[in-house]
Amino acid sequence: MQVAAIIPAAGQGTRLGGQTKKQFRLLAGKPLLVRTLERVLSAREVRWLVVAVPESHLDICHEMLQEVVPADIEWVVTVGGTTRQQSVAAGLLEVPPEAPVVTVHDAARPSLDPLWITQTADLCREFDGAIVAVPTVDTLKEVKLTAGRSQKHGGVIGRTISRDIIWQAQTPQTFRTDVLRRALQHAQEAGLEGTDESSLVEAIGGRVAIVRGSAQNIKVTSRDDWEYLEWKLSQPGGFQGMAVREAPSDG
Ligand code: CTP
Ligand code: MG
Repeated sequence: MQVAAIIPAAGQGTRLGGQTKKQFRLLAGKPLLVRTLERVLSAREVRWLVVAVPESHLDICHEMLQEVVPADIEWVVTVGGTTRQQSVAAGLLEVPPEAPVVTVHDAARPSLDPLWITQTADLCREFDGAIVAVPTVDTLKEVKLTAGRSQKHGGVIGRTISRDIIWQAQTPQTFRTDVLRRALQHAQEAGLEGTDESSLVEAIGGRVAIVRGSAQNIKVTSRDDWEYLEWKLSQPGGFQGMAVREAPSDG
């Protein structure tokens, strides 16, 4: 199954802070975006690539992609929007009509296993989409906000939610292209702003399957995340067992 990959990389990186936006900053010697792209492009099914970036970063991203994208992949850099959802919508406009399946993966998650793209794309034969998620390890509490928070506490527990049925969504999230187009169109018309694509597909009644991801597939958000990954990548072998496809010898 041939796949178009959309990489939303148009965020501001506010929580991490610093002068350079996190996706363009060097993580253990390589831009975070490049680390993520190398993994995504290692999935054999990926045939098209769309990266959505801030307008100010179009040129620099273009240069990066010329270095890392294999010659048999068609790619384009486009301008993202003010929300992640808008960036994905902008990316989808660049996906060619012949692409049967689209996978969306955050630029800020460099530790994905390329196999997840294969697995979620395969599930699109049977479902409208499939996403990577991990079962919750912590016990979950629903908090009654009406009990009133104070400086001493964060509210009062209403009930404990069975963690057996709770999974935390990550990316990649992969969908039949026509379904994702309809879901984004509907979200726009209904004024829905989701924090992931699956919620928008669910909102139009789509059936989305789950593939087990990994707690290591973190979205780099804070300084702690950044420092953890720098340490991890400095270990012998870095992220073990995840092959990366060779870069092309020319652009
Ligand atoms: N993203 C995007 N367009 C936006 C906002 C976010 O393409 N308008 C992308 C980010 O670049 C990132 C992914 O969506 O790859 C997940 O977002 P997040 O981790 O929240 O990154 P930022 O929005 O950049 O960080 P922050 O929320 O701290 O500002
Ligand atoms: Mg954000």
